[in-house]
Amino acid sequence: MNSPEPHNYLMQTCQRPPQCFVAGQGSWLEDQQGRRLLDFTQGWAVNSLGHSPQAVVQALCTQAAQLINPGPGLYNAPALALAARLCQATGFDQAYFLNSGAEANEGAIKLARKWGQLHKPGAWRIVTLQHSFHGRTLATMAASGKPAFATLFEPKPDGFDKVPLNDLPALAACLGHEHVAVLLEPVQGEAGVRLADPRYLQGVARLCRERQALLILDEVQTGMGRCGALLAAQHYGIQADILTLGKGLGGGVPLAALLARNAACCFAPGEQGGTYHGNPLMCAVGLAVLEQLLSDGFLAQVRERAAQLQEGLTQLAERFALGQPRGLGLLQALPLPAGNAAELAHQAQQHGLLVNAAQPDVLRFSPALNVTAHEVELALGCLEKALHSLALGNTL
Ligand SMILES: Cc1ncc(COP(=O)(O)O)c(C=O)c1O
Repeated sequence: MNSPEPHNYLMQTCQRPPQCFVAGQGSWLEDQQGRRLLDFTQGWAVNSLGHSPQAVVQALCTQAAQLINPGPGLYNAPALALAARLCQATGFDQAYFLNSGAEANEGAIKLARKWGQLHKPGAWRIVTLQHSFHGRTLATMAASGKPAFATLFEPKPDGFDKVPLNDLPALAACLGHEHVAVLLEPVQGEAGVRLADPRYLQGVARLCRERQALLILDEVQTGMGRCGALLAAQHYGIQADILTLGKGLGGGVPLAALLARNAACCFAPGEQGGTYHGNPLMCAVGLAVLEQLLSDGFLAQVRERAAQLQEGLTQLAERFALGQPRGLGLLQALPLPAGNAAELAHQAQQHGLLVNAAQPDVLRFSPALNVTAHEVELALGCLEKALHSLALGNTL
């Protein structure tokens, strides 16, 4: 009897290209046949320093040899150091470490509800945004405004009221005595890189203060230098009460963080936990990544590469009659009015570039934050060839 193909043993939870990837270095990813792709997805924006960067490899090896996981009930040096460094760099008072962005957002929802029990009796609901994405646990799916989630896996936890992005009057009409918080992304990454307007976000922060509600920012995708500042919130000049980080914080390994200001730090012992939370192996990596991001000139380089990428995308958009590119830092999107993002992503891959169709009509770019000027140039060249192929109706 023939044994099944290896991929038949993996649940088919998404459509994957057929090849298997075996190595990665910086901006380059290599498959089993030795074919190299220029990776402008970086694991959906997790590899902030590219594939297998020295800083991450070294932190993993050194920490693994020393102490992997004493358990969340004991202090460990990397967790203490990362908490202190992150709080000092972001202006928050305390941090808690988890394994994924969804888990961090679950933690933020719990923290806000606990705060409500203490300071706003009877309030437990949270206002979130249409088309937002906060993760794939049941509560974070319920919090998300992704249309495809609306009827999936019912019943989901109650308590999330959705309003449109950049519509302050709609938020003002919604936010009431029953709400403990507003939860939103400064840039909606999964929705196709949709930016909050600065005046809108500043208005949201003001409304939260006036109506005694917490402001929770989900910076799982936008944080850790992705948008050209350590936090996207810094571009907007706002300070949240609670903020979540994930993806880029671990530079490719599972690490997320829940940050809060003192007034919102209200978990009592036993109310939040997880077997792997704050383990030294992941926290050592987080610390190594953070040190790189905070090193002299690093974020300035991110902004320079972002300007180069956006300029190149703008030129391509003009030549091929596409939509106006948009983004913040190295989270960029190219709108495709023809709705052929998946086809273009496929063509780009044939020409050597890995990009992500975040929406049917949006191509998303999230290269390594240390991508070089030459690699950005190469990526734009691959994309141009892919656009030509599509325009000519060639399918490689
Ligand atoms: C804004 C935002 N929040 C939360 C998540 C969920 O993170 P994770 O997949 O690590 O659970 C994502 C993932 O794409 C995200 O973009």
